[in-house]
Amino acid sequence: MNFKDYIREVPDFPTPGISFKDITPLLEDAEAFRKAGEALMDFVKDLRVDKVVGIESRGFFYAPILAEKLGVGFVPARKPGKLPRKTQRQTYDLEYGSDALEIHAESITPGDRVLIHDDVLATGGTARAICDLVTSLGGEVVQCNFLIELEFLGGRQKLGDVPLRALVSY
Ligand code: PRP
Ligand code: MG
Repeated sequence: MNFKDYIREVPDFPTPGISFKDITPLLEDAEAFRKAGEALMDFVKDLRVDKVVGIESRGFFYAPILAEKLGVGFVPARKPGKLPRKTQRQTYDLEYGSDALEIHAESITPGDRVLIHDDVLATGGTARAICDLVTSLGGEVVQCNFLIELEFLGGRQKLGDVPLRALVSY
């Protein structure tokens, strides 16, 4: 299956000059939705994984599915102020300003082998922040996987030697 057939490019969204990759056609097609999940699972089939971390919001479409298929727990990484218990926070730079993500500190046990999933790798700032967060809690990032890698933005370089897989690239 060519997953790009199910990704709609929307020009000038959310701001002029940006070509937005809309994955909702893929989510809405039962077969494409299932096959993308299976393809993401192929990336991790030879890995031992203890936790799957998904990144709010669009990482939440597939990360819980991967966790369920792997038979491990799902850990949500959320925007600040959403998680009720003790959190660990990581801020990261955006083109203008900064943002932050949090996870419950006790959700990662030192030594956990962690799979990180998000929909898109763009500049890599988001994924880098989550890798740092997991590492600061004693976890080991065994892979970051994505539906889409925007190669021309060079996010891969920000992740250093963290293993990285994506279903489709632009
Ligand atoms: C988008 C996308 C990734 C991130 C990639 O999320 O879903 O999480 O940007 O960008 P980066 O590699 O340059 O950091 P966004 O922050 O727009 O929020 P959303 O998932 O809630 O829509
Ligand atoms: Mg996102």
